[in-house]
Amino acid sequence: MKIRASVPAKVILFGEHFVVYNKRALATALNLRLSVEVSGRGKDKSGYHLYIENIPSFGFQMELAEGKAQPFINYEGASSAIAYVRGAIEYLESKYGIEGGVEMRIKSDIPLSAGLGSSAATSVATIAALRRYFGVDSDSGEPTPKLEEIREDAHHVEKAIQGNASSVDTAISTYGGYVMIENGEVKRLNLPAIDLIIGTIGCIPLGVSVERISELSLKTKKLVEAVKTRREAFKSVFEHIFNASDELTKEAILALEQRDFYRLGSLMNINHGLLDAIGVVPRRLSELVKLSQELGAPGAKVTGAGGLDELGGAGSVMALPPPGDSNGAIKIKTAMALTGALAMVLKTNAKGLIVESV
Ligand code: PMV
Repeated sequence: MKIRASVPAKVILFGEHFVVYNKRALATALNLRLSVEVSGRGKDKSGYHLYIENIPSFGFQMELAEGKAQPFINYEGASSAIAYVRGAIEYLESKYGIEGGVEMRIKSDIPLSAGLGSSAATSVATIAALRRYFGVDSDSGEPTPKLEEIREDAHHVEKAIQGNASSVDTAISTYGGYVMIENGEVKRLNLPAIDLIIGTIGCIPLGVSVERISELSLKTKKLVEAVKTRREAFKSVFEHIFNASDELTKEAILALEQRDFYRLGSLMNINHGLLDAIGVVPRRLSELVKLSQELGAPGAKVTGAGGLDELGGAGSVMALPPPGDSNGAIKIKTAMALTGALAMVLKTNAKGLIVESV
């Protein structure tokens, strides 16, 4: 028996960071997927044997004159992906008494540590595949994944490994579609699929120490803490910024329902400005946003935690394609790629968790 669970990447459209303070956020699933396959290991073999295939690397940088390439396969990111697999296994062993004796194969199109939900995707898919393999989901007839339980299990694992993670990533990986977080509650929304241009900066600048590189996997935590410190210093100002973000998310949902891309774009630009105001926009991500706006995107913003200049600005942005210009998205994607970003044109509203026997 072989079970495959696959889940989508996520992108936060509005309200990242502000969601930590109970303001609204809107996120959606992208058509990039991660899958976990579980099968038996053959007789007498216990434990878990893990293969990780094609997790997108972050490329490399080099000074041509020096001729020395600095690799940038993101081993740190890969090892944090392993932490989520290990966390999921330990959790399932203690909760459901599963016992191992399996091969696990993980394949992913989702860049690591980029704000696109790779860690939640790893947790949700690992949990869903193991639950089905060990019969946790099959008390009667044809097993169907118990989405609510899987999401809760995965959120437990996320919190155990990452500390204070909001429920947005695991919700999107599990349900797909669109999700709004309101007062900490997850609400699934029915909104139209749209195209988005996603630009990811993954390279670490030359000469950065190994310790710094390992900080990359703690980037979200660091940025959330930095926002907290700034908020304490400018409490009454931040109050307005946070409320403005809450209002933006509400208006954005209306604009998306009406497919009013100019209004949606303007709201994204304002959201980006607020993220800049709270200090999570590094130079390279700022440049990608400006470049998209200059090339006709009605809106562009940082998505996810943002980034830090001292970590090379690693992180992601998203841009709305210029309406009515069939080449507009490709132009922006190409321009982003020329700056060294990994650039993709993706669709929102992708399907959530799929579990199947293969
Ligand atoms: O970049 P990511 O995917 O880790 O996004 C973090 C989003 C935050 O709002 C900054 C934190 C959270 O837990 O919601």
